Amino acid sequence: MEKINTAVFVSGGGTNLEHLILSSKKGIMPHVDIKFVLSNKKDAYALTRAKNHNIPSYVSKDDSYILNLLKENNIRLIVLAGYLAILSSEFISNFERELNGKIINIHPSLIPSFCGKGYYGIKVHQKALEYGVKVSGASVHFVNEIPDGGKIIMQKAVKVKDDDTPESLQKRIMRLAEWKILPLASEKVAKMLLGEK
Ligand code: GRF
Repeated sequence: MEKINTAVFVSGGGTNLEHLILSSKKGIMPHVDIKFVLSNKKDAYALTRAKNHNIPSYVSKDDSYILNLLKENNIRLIVLAGYLAILSSEFISNFERELNGKIINIHPSLIPSFCGKGYYGIKVHQKALEYGVKVSGASVHFVNEIPDGGKIIMQKAVKVKDDDTPESLQKRIMRLAEWKILPLASEKVAKMLLGEK
């Protein structure tokens, strides 16, 4: 079966990466081939997860080094799975033009709520609870030059409980939404890219 060469970018614990790999093994993403993991932080636990699954990994913050890695591996899909650096608009347009690829990101809220500059990690859930929303969730979207500003590919809602803390809400959104929709959205975009050729 024809597959789309994919790179997963991470910065932290890598639970989303773990679920992408597991989904791949379970046959949930038949058109996605994870070629390597890139971290901007050398101590990210996600790197250990990649190693445990025999997936090559690299650490770099250098745009031209990263672009070369992407070219060498013919990558057409970049999945940002807890990647805490903002990609420059030059990097995004070079990748899209030179490799005819797409970049997608997972964000732990229902965009356009609680997203954009400064909304990352636990802060997203603190703000959601402060506001008193009764439903939150996760969104997978295309990446453009505006943080969390690209078109939405998939969303899943999660109920907020009266006794939620930011941490309990974060964990439930990961388990019920993020870990499910990131593999499904990756597969959807891979199929779209295959159709474009
Ligand atoms: C997730 O909540 C993701 O939505 C956000 O960063 C977190 C990464 O968690 N962008 P992990 O590294 O995948 O465990």
